[in-house]
Amino acid sequence: MNVVVGVTGGIAAYKAVGVIRALVLAGHEVHVVATDAALRFVGKPTLEAISRNIVHTDLYEGVAEVRHVAIGQAAELIVIAPATANTIAKLATGLADDLLGNTVLASKAPVVIAPAMHTEMWQNPATVANIATLRSRGVTVVGPAVGQLTGADSGPGRMVEPDEIVAAALAVVRPKDFAGRRVLVTAGGTREPLDPVRFIGNRSSGMQGIAIAVAAAARGASVTLICANIDIAMPVGIAVQTVGTTLELAEATGRAAEDADLVIMAAAVADYRPESVAPGKIKKEQQGDSLTLTLVKNPDILAGLAETRRAGQVIVGFAAETETDPDALLALGRAKVTRKGSDYLVLNTVGWTEVFGRPDTRVVMVDRAGAIVIEAAGSKASVADQILDVLA
Ligand code: CTP
Repeated sequence: MNVVVGVTGGIAAYKAVGVIRALVLAGHEVHVVATDAALRFVGKPTLEAISRNIVHTDLYEGVAEVRHVAIGQAAELIVIAPATANTIAKLATGLADDLLGNTVLASKAPVVIAPAMHTEMWQNPATVANIATLRSRGVTVVGPAVGQLTGADSGPGRMVEPDEIVAAALAVVRPKDFAGRRVLVTAGGTREPLDPVRFIGNRSSGMQGIAIAVAAAARGASVTLICANIDIAMPVGIAVQTVGTTLELAEATGRAAEDADLVIMAAAVADYRPESVAPGKIKKEQQGDSLTLTLVKNPDILAGLAETRRAGQVIVGFAAETETDPDALLALGRAKVTRKGSDYLVLNTVGWTEVFGRPDTRVVMVDRAGAIVIEAAGSKASVADQILDVLA
């Protein structure tokens, strides 16, 4: 996609580099239009190196190729980060006294802005009215966040982090093929307490489940995300419930699945829990040289959901296996999808160093008959979209 990134003159301009980089890494063609003020905060060579294109700033350059409108006409998405109070005022008025103003006016592309300014400026009635005007024209406003500002100030006005801006911007141009659908996603890994300080757990980070929830929401779904023991940041704008143990996950999932059209069980579920949880810390003086734990089986949530599913409800399981041979992995997956009774199973190979907590993954998705529907590799975000393409 041809994306124009407008960079305007605030201290957060240095973080625009992260926005440009994330868009380029996601495979987009990025053209930066920087205001003169922006270049006081971040150098043109930096913006050119990261965007891999010449950075345009001057309204009176490239006149022969009618650049003041050409950039906007070619854009499929415009992201302005940071958007200063001054730029917001100019956009609201439709001013075209610089290249960015001309680019926006000449474009039919969706516009996404990430405001960054001091709290007083953000809350000033002039800015409030300008933001309302832009929103009424369909401009998407991302943030600002509340936090540390320049100097000693803090409050609302901090630019949202680059990855969140990019996710929100790409969501704007995503087809809404899940509109009206209710999607339940579980993510993370359940933990079973042994005593108040220890647990039996697994290494699932929750990244893949969160990526699926974010992608489904961007595609118009109403998403419920049930998270078990996740350390990474929760996505904004998605209803999140947190659980700890398998029994808690079973309870929350059972309730949320009642009105879901699609259930995606990406969580790694502890199959066993200690028969009893010690009320106080287990002491080694009382245990001697070995400790025997008795574990009892947890319910199989996925199999239960598949068994009691409503007509038309689609159930998807995940399976993380340590099998590295592709044929043997597939055989495990085929047996598991039959045993669980889910409509699909997404399979991947995990290990000491693979997949857990990593940004990338490689999956094979099979249907209930065991046929391969997709083989996907790449970022967990892109794999999430490929899985959703099958389910759409
Ligand atoms: N799952 C579940 N409840 C359990 C165990 C697993 O709902 N008690 C779900 C997981 O969320 C996942 C799928 O079942 O979507 C497969 O999980 P996995 O641990 O691979 O399956 P198990 O049946 O536990 O098989 P294994 O013996 O290979 O661990």
